[in-house]
Amino acid sequence: MNTVVLGISWGDEGKGRIIDYIAPNFKYVVRANGGANAGHTIIVNGEKYVTRLVPSAIMHPHVKCVLGQGMVIDPEVLLSEINTFNINKNKLFVSENAHIVLPWHKYIDEMREGGEYRIGTTKKGIGPVHEEKARRTGIRMVDLRISASELENKLAKSYRSWWFDMEPVNQTAFVKNLQALSEKCNITDTSEILSNTNEPILFEGAQGTMLDINSGTYPYVTSSVTTIGGIISGAGVSHKKINKVIGCIKSYTTRVGDGPFNTEIQGELADKIREVGNEYGSVTKRPRRVGWLDLEQVKRAIVLNGVDELAMTKLDVLSALDEIKVRVDDSQMIVFKGWKSDISSVRAFEYLPAGAARFVRTIEGYLEVPITLISVSPERNSLIDLRK
Ligand code: IMP
Repeated sequence: MNTVVLGISWGDEGKGRIIDYIAPNFKYVVRANGGANAGHTIIVNGEKYVTRLVPSAIMHPHVKCVLGQGMVIDPEVLLSEINTFNINKNKLFVSENAHIVLPWHKYIDEMREGGEYRIGTTKKGIGPVHEEKARRTGIRMVDLRISASELENKLAKSYRSWWFDMEPVNQTAFVKNLQALSEKCNITDTSEILSNTNEPILFEGAQGTMLDINSGTYPYVTSSVTTIGGIISGAGVSHKKINKVIGCIKSYTTRVGDGPFNTEIQGELADKIREVGNEYGSVTKRPRRVGWLDLEQVKRAIVLNGVDELAMTKLDVLSALDEIKVRVDDSQMIVFKGWKSDISSVRAFEYLPAGAARFVRTIEGYLEVPITLISVSPERNSLIDLRK
């Protein structure tokens, strides 16, 4: 059954570990949007692995990994992931339509963040590469097939299109890097592969619904469509290819970067949740802002994405708290008494403390969508799987 896992809030919901857990049932795992601004974390035997471009399922030997046409690819990051994870060429398919993040994109992103245009980006060149894509001067993976001199000309044209002074970039070195990349993965029509296969596909969303350029908290958003439409268009498949949508939420909410966050908590309590939950950006290491779960926001995201099931991560983090709150709407906030016990070894719902079970069931009741996966510790496979 072809399945999408996507973020319901502002990213960092723990999609990586959910993908890693369900990946054994799939042949293809596909990233469709975003780029190296994402950081999807998996913890195996206490060791932390963060993927930024390749799908989180990369560790599963049978899985073929696809970087779809909606993605923006930083060649340095992809090369480093290919080396770190020792990725065999026959496992990695990159869309020829995917755009390449160029050195000047990162430079511009960084410069803007220092001035009046700041929104708290990851400074990975994501905004500028999408601007250039829309301007139609962008460089795509397919351009790695042209000769080195043609590519240098194209790069120079892209560079000039920004019309302001930037540090000169050594294009020859950059072209060499690009050519190295083209030998290490299959640059191809991934839309065709995914559209024609009968093997099961897992689509891995990046960022979250509230960071969507259309539906999110504009202008404090990323530059891609992070909701279901972005998966369809970014993977280059028909909506009929999707059989199930799993929305990923955390038991509380976090946001990194600037912008509105109406259940945000400040002070000692926020610091405590941040420490217990290790809420620091997996890519940028920035401390994440912390707040309560907001059911009104979650409900909207469920409707928008056509969510069939929810995965809830980090329930164990709430074990540290005396009191837990959940926002229903402007007039209602539910307050739960903390259960204050270690739930990290629980693998069946009936063994959860009564308070934790009540927390999950109450949320499910309001949202009217089943919560089928609950993570109870950072370690791989430490989940309560209610699909069984
Ligand atoms: P950009 O995507 O780097 O342009 O950043 C735009 C906004 O999206 C900033 O608030 C970032 O912190 C946020 N953002 C981008 N990618 C992620 C992610 O993977 N997780 C959480 N926040 C993200």
